[in-house]
Amino acid sequence: MDPIYRPRRLRVNQAIRSLVRETSLSVNDFIYPLFVVEGKGIKREIPSLPNQYHYSVDMLGQEIKEIAALGIKAVLLFGLPHRKDSCGSEAYHEEGIVQRAIREIKRIHREIFVITDVCMCQYTDHGHCGIIEKEYVANDVSVKYIAQIALSHALAGADMVAPSDMMDGRIGAIRKILDKNGFTEVSVMSYSAKYASAFYGPFRAAADSAPQFGDRKTYQMDPANSDEALREVELDLDEGADVVMVKPALSYLDVVRKVKDAFRVPVAVYNVSGEYAMLKAAAAKGLLDERAAALEMLTSMKRAGADLIITYYAKDAAKWLKEEY
Ligand code: PBG
Ligand code: ZN
Repeated sequence: MDPIYRPRRLRVNQAIRSLVRETSLSVNDFIYPLFVVEGKGIKREIPSLPNQYHYSVDMLGQEIKEIAALGIKAVLLFGLPHRKDSCGSEAYHEEGIVQRAIREIKRIHREIFVITDVCMCQYTDHGHCGIIEKEYVANDVSVKYIAQIALSHALAGADMVAPSDMMDGRIGAIRKILDKNGFTEVSVMSYSAKYASAFYGPFRAAADSAPQFGDRKTYQMDPANSDEALREVELDLDEGADVVMVKPALSYLDVVRKVKDAFRVPVAVYNVSGEYAMLKAAAAKGLLDERAAALEMLTSMKRAGADLIITYYAKDAAKWLKEEY
């Protein structure tokens, strides 16, 4: 046996492997999620998300400085309000938890790009992502509230809003209300293909946002579908989305590739809580090498076509990427 082509020649050492590497992972790709809570002096580890914390607004300073020092450019904010009601009033309140957090982050570090998750589930007493009418999450009235939430985030200084509710027509409504109020440069990242996934479990515990009855299957997508994802993305782009997202990431990398190939627009993935937690749990049991597995997972998202990666691993990965991998 004497093969002419020997693919192993391009793998013989780290130098040549680096030279022919097709996909690169960089700290520039990462968006770090942050959970903000009411109260003072709080930095409390989240039981369902090891090494992730709940911060009160006054404790954000230290964390933001650390994030910035690592070279991470963007955060995604989630708030846990002190009060819930049927229409999620705290979500669009000028003094709401997210609104205060935005102002504090911008005061500490103007260059940090602040993205806000726009939804109602942490703020409604029923835990659904919209307004309930006759035990159904009513679309058009929910969209009105969601647009109002996005506007209140822009007023507080958000750079980008990211609606995660999956109501029909919300991107158009948000773009319209932002433009009407002079926020033409505030961008919209749409959770376009957001699936009704079991991998959100640890997040719902962290954000206290589990639905109190039923599930989210009447608005989030069926995991079995991908043509439908393209249609969702197309609608959001037509309505003015600047970035589209596929969520979760790991089980949906085929969808990421399809979206990238079909539209050639910036594509985000959300490396969700369940993906993070299962790796953490396996690593804690000594079942796998966390660093190698996490970097492999994040690299696979880039390879699939993602440009932006929302990940609880952002800080760890930023550190790891300073070394050889
Ligand atoms: C709220 C929202 C969820 C996530 C982000 N925004 C949960 C859900 O839709 O139930 C999940 C994030 C994660 O699991 O890390 N709409
Ligand atoms: Zn929601």
